[in-house]
Amino acid sequence: MATTRPTHPAHDVRTAVFPAAGLGTRMLPATKASPKEMLNVVDKPVIQYGIEEAVASGIERVVLVTASGKSMMEDHFDYAPELERQLEAKGKTAERDEMRRIANLAQLVYVRQKEARGLGHAVLQARPVVGREPFCVFLPDDIMDGGDDPVTAQLLRVYAERRRPVIAVERVPRQDVPKYGILAVEEVGPRLFRIRDMVEKPGVEDAPSDLAIMGRYVLTPDVFDALERTAPGAGGEIQLTDGIKALLDDGVYAYEYTGRRYDCGSKQGYLQATVELALKRPDLRAEFRAFLGDLATRSGA
Ligand code: G1P
Repeated sequence: MATTRPTHPAHDVRTAVFPAAGLGTRMLPATKASPKEMLNVVDKPVIQYGIEEAVASGIERVVLVTASGKSMMEDHFDYAPELERQLEAKGKTAERDEMRRIANLAQLVYVRQKEARGLGHAVLQARPVVGREPFCVFLPDDIMDGGDDPVTAQLLRVYAERRRPVIAVERVPRQDVPKYGILAVEEVGPRLFRIRDMVEKPGVEDAPSDLAIMGRYVLTPDVFDALERTAPGAGGEIQLTDGIKALLDDGVYAYEYTGRRYDCGSKQGYLQATVELALKRPDLRAEFRAFLGDLATRSGA
């Protein structure tokens, strides 16, 4: 295999599943003919942020669960001999090397979700590849910026200790709970909770807390059996939340990660990601910050 395991995470999880079959209706018309995972943030597609986080957390193999119209992703993570030849001819060796690096990030496996039956159903499509191993799930719409400590690496440290599923959570304003999976928990350590109940997209009145599931999970393979038995739930879809709920008696944990999450499946989250991530780039920061300052002055902010 072309990838090497980073030295920091002491865990045995090597696979990450990326459900990437959704239509992206919140981002129309940008997603009419392009996969939402291929929308550009600064200078790379949303999905590449997730795969880079996975690799930085010690993941070697990525299972992309796709659907029709998503083949652009396969090209992005493949060799591009003609492009590389042209970059080489122009003396742009750094760019050529970068194209190679992207294609060698991880071992990629593609499986199809043939019908849009929900997130739980999408994860289940990866079962033949994952087998009887623990694995991560990444919801690619969520770009997670954990700084020097990737959010998934934070979850994997908890997993290495507990050997049970761990879900990334963040507190959300009360009015936002209908957008998320919401948890009832018992605190068992710093930022760490044992989950007692979970409900997908509750009404504001029914939500058991303000702790919301964000798009990173470490799961154990018993979730596949649970998902096989899971009936359609919220929105008439087979929900990952409902599958994980069946495992609560054996222990499932929530970890309130440190870092910043951008929901790139929404226009506001996408705009915020673009501005904040551009401001973190050493090669773009100074000029872009000057532009934003000037813009604020001009608009009277
Ligand atoms: C999914 C999950 C939900 C989670 C959310 C995070 O919902 O089902 O539990 O809180 O992602 O973004 P979706 O946004 O796909 O409707």
